[in-house]
Amino acid sequence: MKRSYWIKEPSVAYTSLSDSIHVDTLVIGGGMCGLMSAYYLSHTDRRIALVEAERIGQGASGRNTGKLSAQQGFLYSDLIKTHGEAKARLYYEANRDAITALEDLINDEKINCQFRRVDAMLMALDEREQEALEKERQAYDALRIPYEVVTQPPYEMPFVKGLRMMKQAQFHPYHFMLELAQRMHQNGVAIHEHSPVTAINKQKEGYAITCNNCTIHAKSIIMATHFPISDHGNLFFTKVDFVQGDLLAAKSAYPLHDTMMINIDSDHIFSARTQIDDDGSALAILSGNQHHAGFMTLEDHDRWVKMRTRQFQLKQPILTWRNQDYVSHDRLPFIGNLIADDPSIQFASGFGKWGNTMSVVAAKTMVANLLVEMTPYAALFAPHRRQVIFQSSYFLGNMKMIKHYLTSHIKSFFPDHYPFHVRTFHENGTVYGAVEKDGKLSIVNIRCPHLGCILNYNAVDETWDCPCHGSRFTYDGKLIKGPADQDLHDIEEAPNTIDPHIID
Ligand SMILES: Cc1cc2nc3c(=O)[nH]c(=O)nc-3n(C[C@H](O)[C@H](O)[C@H](O)COP(=O)(O)OP(=O)(O)OC[C@H]3O[C@@H](n4cnc5c(N)ncnc54)[C@H](O)[C@@H]3O)c2cc1C
Ligand code: FES
Repeated sequence: MKRSYWIKEPSVAYTSLSDSIHVDTLVIGGGMCGLMSAYYLSHTDRRIALVEAERIGQGASGRNTGKLSAQQGFLYSDLIKTHGEAKARLYYEANRDAITALEDLINDEKINCQFRRVDAMLMALDEREQEALEKERQAYDALRIPYEVVTQPPYEMPFVKGLRMMKQAQFHPYHFMLELAQRMHQNGVAIHEHSPVTAINKQKEGYAITCNNCTIHAKSIIMATHFPISDHGNLFFTKVDFVQGDLLAAKSAYPLHDTMMINIDSDHIFSARTQIDDDGSALAILSGNQHHAGFMTLEDHDRWVKMRTRQFQLKQPILTWRNQDYVSHDRLPFIGNLIADDPSIQFASGFGKWGNTMSVVAAKTMVANLLVEMTPYAALFAPHRRQVIFQSSYFLGNMKMIKHYLTSHIKSFFPDHYPFHVRTFHENGTVYGAVEKDGKLSIVNIRCPHLGCILNYNAVDETWDCPCHGSRFTYDGKLIKGPADQDLHDIEEAPNTIDPHIID
């Protein structure tokens, strides 16, 4: 996958798991959510370990815009409509308090991650967006969220009005995660990189977890793998939308406005912030060009990069990259018991593109659930809530999945529009994808092992992405993200086994 602006070669490497171990709680996943969970657990008397399939902080958390904000686009008016004012207010408070909790942690642990309090602004760029902005303003009033109305554009750009939410924050997410991991490791938390969990088996007491052919015996688990690696009949893949967006980092010819910005249009959304680069110069970090996972072309990406670079009068971008996240159909994340009434496996997902603050809330909530402590958020984010399946977007989203399934099969019979080094073809009743890279040809079966959709090639990240539920694989077939849980088979092997593993 393409590197993000944030990710550099880390100075510390953690050993991969090579022996069986016994712990009280195993944290799976070394992104923002897993690290925050391990951090809070490290303040209890539990023996804990954290295992990460790849490298610490190089998943979605090392690839985002690095904003910490309770202002999350057009949100609160939707939350009021779906969940009522009390719950919408609680969501706001959870995110507001998460920023303060992170600020305190950064100060206490002396973490150097360019954390800075800055204002955030939600903008309407035309009359149509202004109508939505007015709705959101009314929601702020109803929820007693402090804001100011802005009438002057921050740059020379189409602009009607903005809502400023004061004292939100931004940081360097990768530096934060690396330093937090180091502090925890120095304080005795076992951390293992290159250690993917491949099976979780319930035992009489606790779990036997398979990782690198070793067994981890744990009484409880926090599954912070971005998307749960085990479904247990919950059909979580039907309850979220799988969203990808492009990002760029570029220097500016002109002074940059310090306010973090986001516009209100979900189809043409862009999000912007500034960043001080290693050489002291100011950069803009922009994200946008949002699509359903598996549908973004290189042409789309290049067009977006050119358009935003011109709009913000930026120099040639230093780097462009892409990220993916999950948006639940009722716009609240899923945080809590994976299996209803059994708190021993906690998970968190569906952060709706705001997982930096939500990871703090999720970590606190999951740790409280494990310790059987009360938290105001347990009910709000309960993963088994029924509202999700009563949303029109649940129905429409799953209809779209069926359409994606059918069209992906039909499309695979026609010549693709991939770069010249990528080809797809049918053989022996299944579909293969061939990629030539660095003089080596990789040919893998591109029928998704989750439910059988035909994967699309993502030329920006050089990955095979599933248009149905967002599973991702490297160009040569290694699993990056579920819900699929197996690598793609090489053409020399038997075709992929299609198994959604819904029950185990
Ligand atoms: C375009 C875009 C911009 C965004 N900008 C922002 C922003 O400005 N602010 C914000 O708050 N949010 C933002 N987000 C959302 C944010 O990036 C995510 O919500 C957040 O990073 C999710 O954190 P996580 O810890 O759950 O996942 P990750 O960071 O992906 O961590 C999960 C980890 O689990 C590991 N893992 C997976 N399976 C296994 C396994 N079997 N065994 C062991 N380890 C495993 C993975 O390797 C990974 O490292 C953005 C999202 C997008 C798409
Ligand atoms: S992720 Fe479900 S079919 Fe590919």
